[in-house]
Parts: sequence; C-alpha cells; structure tokens
Amino acid sequence: MLDQQETVLIVDDEASIRKLLLQKLSREGYSCEEANTAEQTLNRLEGSPIALVILDIKMPGKSGIELLPEIKDSYADTAVIMATAVTDISVAVQCMTLGADDYICKPFNLDEVSLSVQRALEKRRLQLKIREYQQHLEEKVAAQTKEIRKLFLGAIEALVFALEAKDRYTAGHSRRVAEIAVAIGGELGLSANDIEDLRWGGLLHDVGKIAVDQIIQNKPGKLTIEEYKHIMVHAHVGASIVKPVVNEKVVEMIEHHHDRYDGGGIRQVAVGSDIPLAARILAVADAFDAMTSERPYRSAMSRKEALDEIKRGAGTQFDPMVITTFLKTAIAEIAPTKA
Ligand SMILES: [Fe+2]
Repeated sequence: MLDQQETVLIVDDEASIRKLLLQKLSREGYSCEEANTAEQTLNRLEGSPIALVILDIKMPGKSGIELLPEIKDSYADTAVIMATAVTDISVAVQCMTLGADDYICKPFNLDEVSLSVQRALEKRRLQLKIREYQQHLEEKVAAQTKEIRKLFLGAIEALVFALEAKDRYTAGHSRRVAEIAVAIGGELGLSANDIEDLRWGGLLHDVGKIAVDQIIQNKPGKLTIEEYKHIMVHAHVGASIVKPVVNEKVVEMIEHHHDRYDGGGIRQVAVGSDIPLAARILAVADAFDAMTSERPYRSAMSRKEALDEIKRGAGTQFDPMVITTFLKTAIAEIAPTKA
C-alpha cells in the first residue's frame, strides 16, 4: 500500500533522467522531488523526512558513492537505491554492502525501477514497524516495572504504618521524618529526584524495626549496650527489605541513618562527609522528631530543647551543615512547642 507521506528524492546531474523518473514515479502516486548535486541532496534531507533517495553513482563533485555513507549515517530511516550505468554494476553491488537497499541500471527499464522502489519502501516500512513495536514493547515493560515497583513500595509503606500504629510512641513518625528531610533537601536546593529519594528514605527508614524485639523497643528504662545494639540492627535490616524496590541512594540512606558524623556509631564504617548526604539529613530529621515525641523512657522535649540538643550534636552526632540548613526550614520555626 502506498503511503501518502513517503517522498522520493531523485538525485541525478542529468535533467532528462530526473524528469523520466519523476514522471514515472509521480504517475504511480509518489510524491517526488529532485536534486542535481550532493550538496542539494544534503540540504533537502535536512528538511522534512525523505523516505527514499534514488542516487546517481556518477555525479560531478561529490559522487553518489561518497554521499551514500553520509546519508546512511545521518538519515538511517531513508532508503537508498543507487542508479548506475550497466558497466558499473560491480560498483553498485559494492554500494549495497555500504547500506544501499538496491540498484537500478541505466538505461532504465521503468517497470523495474518501479518494482525496486516498491521493494525498498516496503522494506523501510517493515523496519520502521519493527522499531515502533520494539519501542512500544520497551515502554510497556517500563510502565509495568514502574507499576510493580509502586505496588511493592505501597506494601512496604503500609507495613511501616502498621508497625507504627502498634506503638503509640511512634505513630506518624515516618511521615513527619519524611516531611522534615524533604524540607532540608529543598533548603539545600537538591534535585527533584534527590528530594523524592529523601521522601522515600524518610517514610521507610524504620521498616527494619520489624526485626526488633518489641519488649526491648518499648522498654521504659535505659537500654543496655546489648539492647541498644539489637535495636540498631534495624538500619541494616531495613536497607535489606527495601533494596529490591528502591534505588541505591535510598538503600544507603536507610543503612546509614544512625551513623554518627564523628564515626562513633555502632558498626559504623563511613565518617563525616563520607556518610551519604541523604543519610546525614535523615539523621537530623529522625532525631528531631524523636526528641519532640513521647518515648517509653522519657516525655517529649519542647521544640526549643530539641533544637538545642540537635545543635549540641553538631560535629559529633550530626553534620553541622545539615543542622544549619534544618534551622532555616519552616519546620524548625513552626514546630509546635511542647510543654
Ligand atoms: Fe531508625
């Protein structure tokens, strides 16, 4: 079937040959244009798409053989049929190895020309269809992967909220931590992707608490070193839980969210600015929300007390730069004062 959009560009230095081909192909319904030099051909190709070029091998100036690779490099979707004198068939065959779709011989048998054009355009249509199908398939796979990831994240998020709901001390903690982390990221001018990572890191950072003994977690008194170590396992467990569905930055953020800036944390490897920035942000957000919330072993601190405590941790527990940034956010300003 003839596609109305397909334009054939006839390239030959001889006007009579261009006219002959143009008449024949126009009669068959093709939209035809002409060019008489390589330069004119390239200029025309820069415009609207050309489906097929009928390219004369011998032209003054740049020949068809020289022009062929340039066309194929820049316009891979354009089919090319080489036109040549019978005596130069070996050159035409060589052109096929360079990407030409076919060749036609002068003097032309116009029915053969017509058949060659049909074949080249059909092959081109098929190639375009295959590519379109592949792209469609890739898009479909990408969309399904995104959907599956969304479902997994939703399930993990639900798990976090279920864990928090069981415990009156931590209800809403993850949502608030995400909000604070996002505010710090915004103040730092991080990219939209990094801020989205902070949001997920904040929401999911404590999912590993599913592995923590509830009796130890809700212990009213001071924790022993062993108990503290047991609770801190949640950072690593959480990172492992979310790993299949979030990117590496979110995994790192969760793995390192209890790392101390001075390197004094349990089983801590990274120190200072080697701790991922997002984890340093999460550490401040997590601590501020924990301090201003009730805990089994203490009552909630006032906003001012919590901010002072955070400031005291600058350079030891927390990254001073992150603290300075946090203090500039509206959350540090408007957090409700606890009595
Ligand atoms: Fe935590």
